[in-house]
Amino acid sequence: MSNYLITSALPYANGYLHLGHCAGAYLPADIFVRYLRMKGENVLWVCGSDEHGVAITIAAEKEKVTPKQIIDKYHHANENAFAKFGMSFDIYSRTSLDLHHHTAREFFEDFLQKGYLVEREEEQFYDEYAKMFLPDRYVEGTCPNCGYEKARGDQCDNCGAYYNQLELKNPISLVSGKPPIAKKTIHWYMQFNHFQKFLEDYIESKASYWKENVLQQSRSWLKQGLSERPITRDLNWGIKLDGIDKLAPEKTAGKVLYVWFEAVLGYISATKHYYQDKNPEDWKKWWQNPDTKYIAFIGKDNIVFHTLIFPALLYAKNDGYILPHNVPANEFLNLEGQKFSKSRNWSIDLKDFLNEFPDYVDSLRYTLAMNLPETRDSDFTWKDFQNRNNNELANILGNFINRTLQFIHKNFDGKVPVLDEKDKKLPEIWNEIIHLDNNDLNKKKGFLNENEIQLIDTLKTCFFNISKNYSNFRFRDAITETMNVARAANKYFNDEEPWQTFKNDKARCAKSLFISAQLIRTLSIVFTPVIPFTCSKINKLIAIPDYTGGVNSYVPGKDIWSTALEFKLPEGHSLQAPKILFARIEDQTIEEQIKKLAGDSEKNNNLITIDEFSKIQLKTAKIIKAEKLPKAKKLLKLEIEIEGSKRQIVAGIAEHYSINELIGKIIVVVANLKPTKLMGEISEGMLLAANTQNGKLALIVPDRSDIDSGADVR
Ligand code: MF3
Ligand code: ZN
Repeated sequence: MSNYLITSALPYANGYLHLGHCAGAYLPADIFVRYLRMKGENVLWVCGSDEHGVAITIAAEKEKVTPKQIIDKYHHANENAFAKFGMSFDIYSRTSLDLHHHTAREFFEDFLQKGYLVEREEEQFYDEYAKMFLPDRYVEGTCPNCGYEKARGDQCDNCGAYYNQLELKNPISLVSGKPPIAKKTIHWYMQFNHFQKFLEDYIESKASYWKENVLQQSRSWLKQGLSERPITRDLNWGIKLDGIDKLAPEKTAGKVLYVWFEAVLGYISATKHYYQDKNPEDWKKWWQNPDTKYIAFIGKDNIVFHTLIFPALLYAKNDGYILPHNVPANEFLNLEGQKFSKSRNWSIDLKDFLNEFPDYVDSLRYTLAMNLPETRDSDFTWKDFQNRNNNELANILGNFINRTLQFIHKNFDGKVPVLDEKDKKLPEIWNEIIHLDNNDLNKKKGFLNENEIQLIDTLKTCFFNISKNYSNFRFRDAITETMNVARAANKYFNDEEPWQTFKNDKARCAKSLFISAQLIRTLSIVFTPVIPFTCSKINKLIAIPDYTGGVNSYVPGKDIWSTALEFKLPEGHSLQAPKILFARIEDQTIEEQIKKLAGDSEKNNNLITIDEFSKIQLKTAKIIKAEKLPKAKKLLKLEIEIEGSKRQIVAGIAEHYSINELIGKIIVVVANLKPTKLMGEISEGMLLAANTQNGKLALIVPDRSDIDSGADVR
C-alpha cells in the first residue's frame, strides 16, 4: 500500500465553475483518486476555494458586494456543485480560514528570519484618480513579450509570459480607465535565485516521466534564470502582514501576501483542516513523509507555480516537506470549437448542467473523460455528449447489463444460473487463470470453449491496459479500454447465442448467463472511477456491497480493483430486474442547448461584415389578411403583399396584436428567407419586431406615412 496525497488547484471563489474547469484539475483527479481507493491505496485528496487576491476583489466590485460576500456565495455554490458532480474530496477547505492565514504567515516569517526576503522600495503602478496602487489584474496593457494588447499586469494570457508589472507597455488602470503613474511602495521580495540549482536538479529528476508541456515550461523558466519576486501586494483583502515580528507597523499597513504565495500553501492548510478534529498533527504524515507520493492536478496556466514556486517554498522552509512527485497539468477544454468565455456567454456552468440534466451526471463525466485535454486542447460538443450517452453508455454498457438481467429474469428465475455438474469447477479455474501470465494460461485453456478463451484474453489485455494507462495519467486511453470491456461482454453474449442454447443446450445456456452475470460485476468495478453513480446502481442490481471509491465506503488496504475479473457471484445469487441506466438523449434536447449558446454569443460576439449583412433583403410589406392557426396559440398566418406579389408568412405575434390591428399595416420583412414550414403552414419570409421591456412584441414600422410596400430597407 502506498501513500498518495492528491491536490487539485484551488479554484477562485469568484464565479461559478464551468465544464472547462471540471475537465482540467477536478474530474481527472477524482477518477484517479477513485481508482486508487479501489486498489486499496492510502489516499488523501484535498482541495478548497482560493479566496484572496484581485480575482476576488474585482468580482466584488462587479457585483457591488463585499469580498466576503463573494467568497461565501461562490465557495458554497462551488462546493455544492462539485459534490453533485461526484468529486470525492476528503476535504474542500477555504483559504479565508484563520488556520490558513496562520500557515501562510508562518512561512513568511520563517523566510524573513532566514534572510530569503528582502524589503525593497520600488515603483508600482498607482491610480491617481482611484488613489490606490494597482495590483496585477487591475492593470491591462501590451505584453512585453508578444505584444498582445490585453495582457494582465503580471501575466499574459496570450503567450503565457509572467513579468513585472512595470514592464507592461501602454498600461491602463482598470479602476479608472486612465493610465496609471509609477509610484514608490515597499514590498518584500523572495529571492528565488537561491533555489535555481536545486530546482534544476528537481525538474531534471522528473524528466523521464513528467508530461512534455510541464517539463518544457519549467525548463524555459529556469533557463531565463530565477530572480527575486515580490510576494506582497498593496491591497486590503487577503492575508495581512500586521503584527509580524520585526516589521514596523507603518510598513505593513495595507499590505497582504501575494495570492500565489499563499494559495499553494492552502493545500497544506486544507490538510490541517481535515485533521483538525482528528489528530491535529497527522497532516505531517502526508506532507513530511518521504513515503508519500504527492500528485498535483492543475491546468496549464498554473504550471510553474506548482513545479518551481511551490517546491521552492517547501524546500526553503526546510521542515522535511515533500515535493510533487508528478504535476499532470492538462491543457484547456474548448466548447463547440471556441474558448470558454463567461463574458461572451460561451460557457456551460456546472451548476446549470446539473440543474437541467440531473440524471446525466455520469454521462457528462464520461464525455469529459473521453475528451480530457491531456496532451492538447480538446473540445466539448453537445452532439458528442449525446453520442457518448446514446451510442456508448446506453447501447454498449447499458445494453449488456440490460439483456443479461432480462434473460436471467425470464429464464432463470432472477438468479445467477446454477452450473451443470461438468462445469462446477469453472469459477475456481477462472479465478486462477485470470491471475496467471499468458504461458501458464495457455496450459489451462483446455477447459474453456472458444468464446470463453477469446473473452478471457480480451479481458486480461483490457484490464492490463486500463491499469497501466491510469498509472501513466493517460485517462482517456484508460477509459477507452474500459468501454472495450463492455464491448467484449456484448460480443461474448452474442457469440454464445443463449436464446438458441436455451432451446437445445440448457447447460451451456446456464454457463453463458453465469459468466455474463459475473461480467456485470466486472464492469461495475472497472467503470467505477469514471461513472460512480451508475456503478452504485449496478451494485444494487446485482446485490453486491456498494463500493465506489467515495470517501464513506473507502477502506485503505482493501484491494477490490484486482478482483475485477474474478467470478464472485455464487450460483443462485438473486439479481434485480433490469432498470434503465442511461436514458436516451433526443436530438431536440441537444439542439436546444446548442441554440442557447449560439443565441447568447451572437449578442456579444459574432460580428458580421457589411457584405454578409447585404445578403439580407429587407423590404416593406403590406398585411392583407391575418388568421389564427388552430393548433398554435402564438402564431398567426399572414398574407402580405410586396410590390404587387402576394405571399404567406407565419409569425409569432398572435399574443401581441389583434387581427384587426394588423390588416393594412406596412411592416418590415426579410424577403429572401428560404421558405420553411411552421405548424404545417408554409412561411415565405420573416417579419421584424422588437421586444419591449415587459415582454411584448412591437412590430417595426416605417416612420413616415408615404411609404408603400416593396420599398428597400437598409
Ligand atoms: N486559484 C487559481 C486559479 O484558479 C489556482 C490556484 S492553485 C493554488 O487559477 F495552488 F494556488 F491553489
Ligand atoms: Zn504575451
